[in-house]
Amino acid sequence: MTQRRLARIVPGMPTSDGAGVRIRRSLGQGPGARLDPFLMLDELGSDDAADYMAGFPTHPHRGFETVTYMLEGRMRHRDHMGNEGLLQDGGLQWMSAGRGIMHSEMPEQTSGRMQGFQLWINLPAAEKMKDPSYEDIQADRIPERTLPGGGLARILAGDAHIGGEAVTGPVSGISTQPLFLDLRLPAGGRFEHRIPPGHSGFFYVYRGAVGVPGGGVNDGLVEHGNAGVLSDGEVVAFEAASDVGLLLLAARPLGEPVVQYGPFVMNSREEIEQALRDYQAGTLAGEARQGLRAGA
Ligand code: CO
Repeated sequence: MTQRRLARIVPGMPTSDGAGVRIRRSLGQGPGARLDPFLMLDELGSDDAADYMAGFPTHPHRGFETVTYMLEGRMRHRDHMGNEGLLQDGGLQWMSAGRGIMHSEMPEQTSGRMQGFQLWINLPAAEKMKDPSYEDIQADRIPERTLPGGGLARILAGDAHIGGEAVTGPVSGISTQPLFLDLRLPAGGRFEHRIPPGHSGFFYVYRGAVGVPGGGVNDGLVEHGNAGVLSDGEVVAFEAASDVGLLLLAARPLGEPVVQYGPFVMNSREEIEQALRDYQAGTLAGEARQGLRAGA
């Protein structure tokens, strides 16, 4: 079986988003830092409430999916469809913006640690204008398996094979067929998993450091705060250089043009201009009817 190697490191860059939330952005720093169909990955992580309290007040999205995964902390989601959900320790939110969603994501804690992630996955052209949808998945719905050599895997999306057992995550039916695992390995721990050839694969290290055997750039080593992009192949292996926590992601690439303007990701400039007109007219998501507007 062809081993996937470390093809590229995308260093996480400190930046801020929303109303001034401090984040670390790896994928999505620019057009060259995407990995089809993955558009962006942000880590929010701080012990200091001042870094996250301002949250993400009402804002739009069109044309892709946002996946929010909370390791620790609490965020309240509200959207123009009337959905409200509390994302908390170990929970996942999967939102398909489709033709448009207006939502806010606000911390519901005033002190203590918050650590979480937001991932953007592109939608195929044929699905960019579908109706928006949203699902809140609490921690107890996410399967966890102890790894044969120690450590833990949480299966957030897709079909995993852990110690000879097939385990399916709570998210399915996504046309890019994403695999999303949260892996925690003790120092010296090892993990191996198949990724369908042709699918894009990358991982993000949120604690410690991990090596990809078989080498590649930087001798295959990736440290906390950075994303590692995998070469094509059939299987990926990890060797923990220390106690490590990482997110492993893989999905089928779309191979379609990507034109992004902030929270709008479409296939052409004309479609972006239409999104801006719809947003300005208050019809992006039908939000005018709901009385929920940007800045409200
Ligand atoms: Co958002």
